[in-house]
Amino acid sequence: MTSTARWWNRIAQKYARQPIADEAVYERKLALTREHFTPDSEVLEFGCGTGGTAILHAPHVRHVLATDISEEMLIIARDKAAEAGVSNVSFERADFDTLETGTFDVVLGLSILHLLAKPQEAIKKAYDMTRPGGVFVSSTACLADKMWFLRPIAPIMKLFGIFPPVLSFFSAAQLAGYLENAGFEVEYQWRPEKAVAVFMIARRPV
Ligand SMILES: C[S@@+](CC[C@H](N)C(=O)[O-])C[C@H]1O[C@@H](n2cnc3c(N)ncnc32)[C@H](O)[C@@H]1O
Repeated sequence: MTSTARWWNRIAQKYARQPIADEAVYERKLALTREHFTPDSEVLEFGCGTGGTAILHAPHVRHVLATDISEEMLIIARDKAAEAGVSNVSFERADFDTLETGTFDVVLGLSILHLLAKPQEAIKKAYDMTRPGGVFVSSTACLADKMWFLRPIAPIMKLFGIFPPVLSFFSAAQLAGYLENAGFEVEYQWRPEKAVAVFMIARRPV
């Protein structure tokens, strides 16, 4: 098991108990995402955590493949889906770096790109997994904009297990550049007031 999987396994129960930081912002992100769904949509969410978002989107699409590196997160997610009576979400354990799967109408990467060692490569992969005309929806902590001061202390925090083992620092402008370099067209960008995370909808051209 990788140190990343171990770290996320360790905090899964605590993560599941955390309330949504801002309900209104979360609801708006759900609504903006759903504008790109049809009842036939095939959706991939990588880094799905405890599955809350995949479960809420499930009634609006045909199927969601929800993946995560942490089995402990997925155990909670599967229980939540069963409790909600949702049967069109498949939860699978996978490191996004090595995930091999097909193409999707909508790909979701929520609170995950800054937790990957090579976000640019992950975005290229997300591009390959988005069908032409489909969209990649991301919500990403752009740490270089608002939390740049964490960069020098990050290695120590990682050593003590306080920060996750992998943390990438980039700005919203850099993230938009990564998306465009991969071939996406950024259609929508929103940073809620005071938020570290930037919400982006990027389309793979036909
Ligand atoms: C901050 S949580 C976000 C969870 C969920 N997307 C959300 O918005 O609540 C990050 C998730 O990414 C997962 N993760 C971290 N590195 C990963 C990787 N390389 N591949 C797949 N999942 C990963 C963690 O296990 C964790 O569940």
